[in-house]
Amino acid sequence: MKNIRIETGKPYDVMIGSGLLDNTGSVVSNVLPKARKAAVITDSNVGPVYLKRVSSSLEKTGINCACHVIRAGEESKSMAVYEELLTFLAQEGITRSDVVIALGGGVVGDLAGFAAATWQRGISCIQIPTSLLAMVDSSVGGKTAIDLPAGKNLVGAFHQPSAVICDPDTLTTLPDDIFRDGCAEVIKYGVLEDRQLFDHLLENGTKFDRSYILSTCVSVKARYVSEDERESGVRRMLNLGHTFGHAIEAHSDFRLSHGKSVAIGLAVIARAAAAKGVCDAAASEAVTDCLVRFGLPDRCPDPAEELWPYVLADKKRRADSVILIVPERIGRCRILEVGPEQAEEWLRAGL
Ligand code: GLY
Repeated sequence: MKNIRIETGKPYDVMIGSGLLDNTGSVVSNVLPKARKAAVITDSNVGPVYLKRVSSSLEKTGINCACHVIRAGEESKSMAVYEELLTFLAQEGITRSDVVIALGGGVVGDLAGFAAATWQRGISCIQIPTSLLAMVDSSVGGKTAIDLPAGKNLVGAFHQPSAVICDPDTLTTLPDDIFRDGCAEVIKYGVLEDRQLFDHLLENGTKFDRSYILSTCVSVKARYVSEDERESGVRRMLNLGHTFGHAIEAHSDFRLSHGKSVAIGLAVIARAAAAKGVCDAAASEAVTDCLVRFGLPDRCPDPAEELWPYVLADKKRRADSVILIVPERIGRCRILEVGPEQAEEWLRAGL
């Protein structure tokens, strides 16, 4: 088992190890010795496969379990399902010394994390990510949110979990398409700051060494989050590929998955960086080659004029500028804050 420490105001560990799901009870009683009841939130895909193992492990250590299964899919990150969760927590009498457990991918993690952040002004949460994307990104760092019709993740809170339990065995039941979505975030870490990781991905494709990749990606994320918990500085680097990726995702009305949108966003910013002379053409081509190796898209079918309003609507935008994370070479990126006209030029250059 590997433990990676996240040094936030309230530090915690990301535990990575095969079979860890069956140790949920002992992890919870170690990190939260006062917890008597766990509200386990999962979805209709993950629940039938893993809920029983998690709840039995909790019950064995004397922690009562109340389970709630939401419908799988981004549509569940809604105000209605959030309210449904709060009603569930109220009916189950979950108190401030109890714990919410998020068992699932990014949707469950964001939604259950936000319910934990706001229930009785905030109670403890344990994240158990079961998708690659959630393991390397969304379960770590405390971002929680729901969507509004006006946009994705518009209502949320920073609420760090008390622990992240990452059992790579759960990846074996992940549908191929969802697994590839997570690969886009993994490729992001290689472009961002690890040439060796990037080369390993190019060489091995989806047959990559899972424990090496998980621990390397989480370690990179741990460094950024520990240095900048609330994303006012270097943590913004983790948004590589996301500025244009989010716009592409929103423009598709969320029919294009987050992972595929980020993949295109990575390719667009890399091509734009090459066109602007910030990186060489070989680096930009390497990004595209890697995405294609994973069966991920690298081209955006949408015209700049249609995407542009979505870039402007992104919540990460400042009043008069857009933040772009730009590759200088594989393994090194920089933050570029530009005016809207320049940002639009970057978008056009990369499409
Ligand atoms: N997903 C990027 C971050 O957590 O900062």
